[in-house]
Amino acid sequence: LTCVFFQQKEENIRCLTMLGHFGFECLPHQLVTKSIQQGFSFNILCVGETGLGKSTLIDTLFNTNSREKKSSHFRPNVELKIQTYQLQESNVQLKLTVVTTVGYGDQMSKEASYQPIVSYVDAQFEAYFQEELKIKRSFADYHDTRIHVCLFFIAPTGHSLKALDLLTLKTIDSKVNIIPLIAKADTISKNDLQTFKSKIMNELISNGIQIYQFPTDDKTTAQMNSSMNEHLPFAVVGCMDEVKVGKRMVRGRLYPWGVLQVENENHCDFVKLRDMLLCTNTEHLKEVTHTKHYECYRRCRLQKMGFTDVGPDNQPLSFQEIYEAKRKEFHEQCQREEEELKHKFMQRVMEKEIAFKETEKELQDKFERLKRIQQEETIKLEEEKRKLDEEIMNFYKMKADSEISQTQGCANIKKD
Ligand code: GTP
Repeated sequence: LTCVFFQQKEENIRCLTMLGHFGFECLPHQLVTKSIQQGFSFNILCVGETGLGKSTLIDTLFNTNSREKKSSHFRPNVELKIQTYQLQESNVQLKLTVVTTVGYGDQMSKEASYQPIVSYVDAQFEAYFQEELKIKRSFADYHDTRIHVCLFFIAPTGHSLKALDLLTLKTIDSKVNIIPLIAKADTISKNDLQTFKSKIMNELISNGIQIYQFPTDDKTTAQMNSSMNEHLPFAVVGCMDEVKVGKRMVRGRLYPWGVLQVENENHCDFVKLRDMLLCTNTEHLKEVTHTKHYECYRRCRLQKMGFTDVGPDNQPLSFQEIYEAKRKEFHEQCQREEEELKHKFMQRVMEKEIAFKETEKELQDKFERLKRIQQEETIKLEEEKRKLDEEIMNFYKMKADSEISQTQGCANIKKD
């Protein structure tokens, strides 16, 4: 067994002739075994107005019982109901998460209806992004909650898409794989349904809304997928009840004129949806989520953080260079902010000093004024005291004089 290794440029790789059996042909099997051991996860988002049959359809698809009490039409906000199930088929484990809108379309503001959906989808991308950025990542046991498919329920009005639906679809079409569904399709006649389907598709195209297309690049599924693309939007009916048709019990809705069988392809597109979603294209939906939608989120997020692949001179930049540049920029910004703070502080100190000096001067002036007033008052009082003393002196003098003159008077009378 001989093998020669050459380190050559990519375009110049030499094909070696195998002289024996190496065994790397079983690499795909190793991958399958590993995937089976790890298990799979699949996350579905159901968007649609209250009462359009979202829970019933999910229950019909997975044989669950998620229908609780009916939601009210008077919710102030849209909420998201998250349910996670563990499913097993043969030896394949599937962790299924179903996220359903509650109260969508019941708000006055259109933005209030779709914003919580956008925030939820972004939050799942952000959680994955943060895990990627960690030094110690643990993707082996990481529960990936990124939405792989959005089942968008359209009311079976037979008219056209509502403004809110168009707005919501336009906002989320770059974030999730959208499969449009006509809900409660049993309430619309066969002819009306075809017209309604083409009307919806035309509206989606004219509004530039990108919906998920089943892939046609794989020979084994190309034919089926391209025919399924023609059937979009799928007209679905959900029902958990079983009714008797002939000798068989089937899932269906019983009407006075007959039975609508959920799993009969002539009655509705339920089986088409189930096959496309859970059999033929599950992995493709996950792949598109990772390689297209998450990639777009990641790119924008990194660009917002200041990372780029090329510099201003169009030369490739390494992560290290960008990191160093960012660090320098951050350091300079910190210094600038510190200088600014110092300058502001000094200015405040100066302002305060000036204010203190002015107050001190005012107090000094006031003190001087009061001192002067007090001195003047003292002088005045002293003057008054002096005058009073003089008056008292004069008084005593006059009193003494009058006493003398009185004594002399009396002496003269006695002599006489
Ligand atoms: P909220 O969770 O309250 O938003 O409703 P929802 O969209 O989950 O609807 P739900 O599955 O609770 O169904 C509402 C009503 O519609 C129930 O009475 C269902 O029996 C009925 N329903 C569900 N699917 C269909 C359908 O395909 N056709 C018809 N005719 N009725 C349906």
